[in-house]
Amino acid sequence: MNHACRTQELVALSGAHTLGSKGFGNPNVFDNAYYKILLDKPWTSSGSMSSMIGLPSDHALVEDDECLRWIKVYAGDQLKFFGDFANAYVNLVDSGAVWGSGEI
Ligand code: HEM
Repeated sequence: MNHACRTQELVALSGAHTLGSKGFGNPNVFDNAYYKILLDKPWTSSGSMSSMIGLPSDHALVEDDECLRWIKVYAGDQLKFFGDFANAYVNLVDSGAVWGSGEI
């Protein structure tokens, strides 16, 4: 049983947004670039493409003290991020979350 709190799991799972088109590092590489870039708040610099980085949910994480604490932990410790992401993802699936219709 994993006793991580829900806030920690939210921050760990959100790290999946390092993948894809929202501007957090290499779109094809799963790493902790998401957290390093969140700490820089590039979306606050106006008049450049960096203002396009991230979703509203990504931006909101940095404004919450408890989330920010985990962002700093994962920015500094990629292995901990990998471990916590894996645990949080298993908890998510165990709680009944499914993709789309639930058929694979
Ligand atoms: C905190 C709640 C979340 C919200 C509000 C959210 C919202 C979104 C949205 C709107 C996009 C599309 C971005 C775009 O326009 O390109 C997106 C992309 C994505 N999300 Fe989430 N998401 C959340 C959590 C998660 C979680 C928990 C995971 C997986 C564990 C995840 C994995 C992804 C991935 C991999 C992409 C990129 C897909 C691609 O670019 O092809 N997200 N998310």
